[in-house]
Amino acid sequence: MLKEIYQQPEVLRTCLAAYLTGNRDVPINLNLPIELYNDLDQIHLIACGTSRHAGLVAQHWLEQITGIPTRIRSGSEFVSAPLPIATNTLTIGITQSGETADTLKALTINQTRRSELGDRFQARQLGITNQPNSSLAQLVDHILPTWAGTEIGVAATKTFTTQLAVLCCLMLDLAVRRGVIVSAQLQQWITVLQQLPEQIARILEQEGAIKDLAQQLVNSSHCIILGQGVNRAIALEGALKLKETTYIHAEGYAAGEFLHGPIALLDQQIPVIAIAPEGSSQAAVLETVRKVQMSGAKVIGIVSNREATPDLFEDCLVLPAIANELISPFLTVIPLQLLAYHIAVLRGLDVDRPRNLTKAITV
Ligand code: AGP
Repeated sequence: MLKEIYQQPEVLRTCLAAYLTGNRDVPINLNLPIELYNDLDQIHLIACGTSRHAGLVAQHWLEQITGIPTRIRSGSEFVSAPLPIATNTLTIGITQSGETADTLKALTINQTRRSELGDRFQARQLGITNQPNSSLAQLVDHILPTWAGTEIGVAATKTFTTQLAVLCCLMLDLAVRRGVIVSAQLQQWITVLQQLPEQIARILEQEGAIKDLAQQLVNSSHCIILGQGVNRAIALEGALKLKETTYIHAEGYAAGEFLHGPIALLDQQIPVIAIAPEGSSQAAVLETVRKVQMSGAKVIGIVSNREATPDLFEDCLVLPAIANELISPFLTVIPLQLLAYHIAVLRGLDVDRPRNLTKAITV
């Protein structure tokens, strides 16, 4: 797991190079036929676990930037409660292994239901996977590989950040085609994306501080992670990483929503991690942190502008400056991956093979 966490700058570079051309006239090339994603009325995302969290980040991007109504459903729920059929819908299955049974079943159901309907309802299915020769490829007409290289650790790390990269390129391509961003804005997004490998490498240099934090949290039985906006998905992903590698009961919440009930859970024994990079969601997270402090809970911040949060956190991990809040999930997830890894190691657990889990749930 640690090796794969450290590979992220390199695999992200490889993944971005596969889709960003360096040509100013056509900066993104996904090699997809235009009929697949022309005139879309809706986008449906289907995925499980960590892949679903990548889908949640993408849902935020797609709705906020392209304006295309985007729905997401876990493969396991889609099987019994499929998303209502809409016209001109791009359905995207996200699965690093390409073998997750629930995601494959959901895509099959979608294909079958639509095959009996008229042209505008026909399935347009796209797969995003790290295994382009997997069962997923037999189900969908088009695949976007994530180029992360083999991931052995059961806890997904580098496949998550590369899924985000592919989804971001797809979102930007759609935004250009729909005319909702201009060339200069696109170039800004691309510049920020290309800075990510270097920024992630700088976060990895803070491993010592993250290890110290792991030492403080190693005996906790519960942990709460808060995020807002695009980082709500990272709160969920950080909590999933903690659960599956350390067996600590961890939950991720939207910071604002946390005040509507769950805050009652807190006492001095439950540490809270607040994801609060600079940007439009930061104020809401900090507001919740102020209320959380009254419970006596220890609050750890993941911030990018330490000066904006004086004395608010007992401990802080400081990220590089965030040029575009929407891109911050690539960075905010890294300390949470490392934290989960180090707590698991301190607890003497086999971090690569957590109990009761396999790399892909194929039945
Ligand atoms: C991730 O750390 C988990 N092991 C798990 O949630 C996983 O993401 C999920 O089972 C989906 O797997 P997939 O991406 O191969 O479809």
